[in-house]
Amino acid sequence: MYPTQVSIYEVGPRDGLQNETLLATSAKVALIDALAAAGVRRIEAGSFVSPKWVPQMADSAAVYQQIHRASHVRYSALTPNLRGFEQAVAVGIDEVAVFTAASESFCQRNIHCSITESLNRFEPIFAAAKQQRIPVRAYVSCVLGCPYEGEIAALQVAAVSKTLIDMGAYQVSLGDTIGVGTPLKAQRMLAAVNNQVPIAQLALHFHDTYGQALANVLACLDSGISTIDSAVAGLGGCPYAKGASGNLATEDLVYLLHGLGIDTSIDLLQLALAGQQVCQQLGKANHSKVAQALLAR
Ligand code: HMG
Ligand code: MG
Repeated sequence: MYPTQVSIYEVGPRDGLQNETLLATSAKVALIDALAAAGVRRIEAGSFVSPKWVPQMADSAAVYQQIHRASHVRYSALTPNLRGFEQAVAVGIDEVAVFTAASESFCQRNIHCSITESLNRFEPIFAAAKQQRIPVRAYVSCVLGCPYEGEIAALQVAAVSKTLIDMGAYQVSLGDTIGVGTPLKAQRMLAAVNNQVPIAQLALHFHDTYGQALANVLACLDSGISTIDSAVAGLGGCPYAKGASGNLATEDLVYLLHGLGIDTSIDLLQLALAGQQVCQQLGKANHSKVAQALLAR
């Protein structure tokens, strides 16, 4: 049975914009405010990582300070280590997200340490977050394949996910970083992880490189999953995964869910206009089919 409600976790301002050409801080702020006005309730608005590696996110603190904080939105940020966590807390973030991988090679390329070392780095974040009552989300990348190692065992994904939950994450987002997954594989991977972690603590994060993201969501929806990550206009990719395209477009996800009678709280037209505006500013095509159709009318 499908859920009656799905919580959409919008990653466009972070996952999307981290892999686009530099966008002015004011344009990021306008995007985040427009997403909130469209009814989006969870927005990952930036990351506190090394500006040497991801210059696109170097102004995340300024972005958080300039957005108009809507009371219905939980604003989040990626924090790879305690230093990033402290920076995020200093600007009043609602929640943070740590990130590791199910693939050793990807972990090394992305955050320059092993999976075990990454978990060790997260320990002080979990401790500080618990003390300050800040919810911590966790990402596991490469759950359906790795650009360096190929196939990744679902049991490995499950083990890393379980460890993160045991450490204190309220939710683990399962990332198909390079978008190679197909529906049956996605279902099987989710079932394997769900053997170790309750479905209510899992989220799905599909990139759309092979055009399978929406099909993967549909295949997984009757598992009881109720949080899906997506990026407005299908923005972005991953700087450490060559060829990876953007996330599933939020507009396409909302259209699918509303068509199934599933509530999202989001006004689709307002969302599409927000995505179109940022695409114009970036000078790039809008990757949402739904936005293209809606805005052509
Ligand atoms: P490190 O281990 O300290 O070493 O950083 P490093 O050599 O990688 O970087 C060192 C430099 O980063 C030093 O600066 C540090 O001071 C600085 P330098 O002396 O060279 O000038 N540094 C920091 N700067 C700002 N904020 C910080 C911070 N920490 C260290 N918090 C680190 C490890 C993870 C920080 C670094 O490698 C990094 O920032 N990597 C970028 C990771 C990243 O943002 N990847 C993309 C996001 S993950 C993703 O997209 C996947 C996801 O969407 C899910 C999916 O699709 O699968 C989440
Ligand atoms: Mg991603």
